[in-house]
Amino acid sequence: MSKLAKQRIPSEAEGQFLGFLPDKDGKLKYLRWQAGAEVFAGKIPKPLRSELYRSLKPGDRLQIAGEREVDPFKGREKWVLCRVVPVQASPKAAPGAEEGRKGVVLVCQKSDCCRRGAMAVMQALQAHLAAYPETIRVQGVGCMKDCKRGPNVVFLPDKARYSGVSPQGIPALLQRHFPLADPVPSP
Ligand code: FES
Repeated sequence: MSKLAKQRIPSEAEGQFLGFLPDKDGKLKYLRWQAGAEVFAGKIPKPLRSELYRSLKPGDRLQIAGEREVDPFKGREKWVLCRVVPVQASPKAAPGAEEGRKGVVLVCQKSDCCRRGAMAVMQALQAHLAAYPETIRVQGVGCMKDCKRGPNVVFLPDKARYSGVSPQGIPALLQRHFPLADPVPSP
């Protein structure tokens, strides 16, 4: 009877760090994490070990990439890790942000506005909104019928429309419509 071959499957996972596990010689070569109700362990490549020993603490959220080695004969699988990255907690709202206020910034994404820099405006909004509550977001929309004066942007719920917006003007517009006690400095 031919033995089924082991398979290596490139895989990614996200989970909560539980701790390190030793091999039979007592060296901490394995990382344990939990995803949902399941607990996994994977071998850490040597170059990553010292940094992970230093930086990880139980409870940290991790993004993990590696290969799952599946042994169909024994019905077991084990992970060999190649990348372990702590996931940053989502940034807290800057102090003074209006709690609970909902807002949307609409940015025209049609061709005339894009030619005039709408993508850079969108990126600037996304970068600055990282400091705001999640209830304030940016959304690309269709033509606002003022193509020659783009990029065109609308702030809701104030229904304030601006034309010829530049990335440099974004912090002031955000501060006007969603004021923070301590405005975020430009990146
Ligand atoms: S293309 Fe932006 S308003 Fe028309």
